[in-house]
Amino acid sequence: MISSVLDESILKRARDKGLLDVRVMNIRDFTLNKHHTADDYPYGGGAGMVLKVEPILRAVDFIREEEKELRIILLSPQGRRYNQTVAYELSREERRVVFLCGHYEGIDERVKTHLSPEEISIGDYVLTGGELAALVVIDSVVRLIPGVVGDRSSVEEESFNGILDYPHYTRPFEFRGMEVPSVLLSGDHEKIRLWRRRQALLNTLEKRPDLLSLAILSDEDRSILEKIKEEESL
Ligand code: ADE
Repeated sequence: MISSVLDESILKRARDKGLLDVRVMNIRDFTLNKHHTADDYPYGGGAGMVLKVEPILRAVDFIREEEKELRIILLSPQGRRYNQTVAYELSREERRVVFLCGHYEGIDERVKTHLSPEEISIGDYVLTGGELAALVVIDSVVRLIPGVVGDRSSVEEESFNGILDYPHYTRPFEFRGMEVPSVLLSGDHEKIRLWRRRQALLNTLEKRPDLLSLAILSDEDRSILEKIKEEESL
């Protein structure tokens, strides 16, 4: 599952360019039993299977033989909620990051006791396994690495401050009676910048007002918001 996504599109290009180095490991390769079973029935009974502690710890030991300093992240619905701030933080990580993907009903608790991994959740819902969550994290971090997405990513950090994006348009100018906002054709860069900022703030106010209390807003942003609210109350 992981390899198929990493071998596509931007992630593939990032790997080809040497900007991303991901190694996919299968904990079944670290089992010692004949059938390579990495899970077993839960002590105490109940439905589902539990991932065994030994193959996971052996897999981590194997990685440690090559690199001592690791940042170990367990993907789990019990983790700290993932967001763009965590993505930026991970994009600056110097250590090799190990993503442990839980599966089935759970993972033997002693994995946590022994490794004390950081736990990350991508949202309040339950996936069949941590693989998709790890891919979400990898994708969102990799696009922040300079050189991965054109040359945008280096400047993006400065412009991201926790609000939603403004609307985008490309050709044709008119489609089924819908025209592109004329300001975008004005050539007036300052006017365009202000229009976009206003649209972004308006979008956020309408769709995700909860983001505004945490967003980094400039004095200009605050006065734009004041104006929007004034206009709304008219
Ligand atoms: N594994 C299962 N559900 C998950 C979630 N929401 N986030 C991270 N890992 C998970």
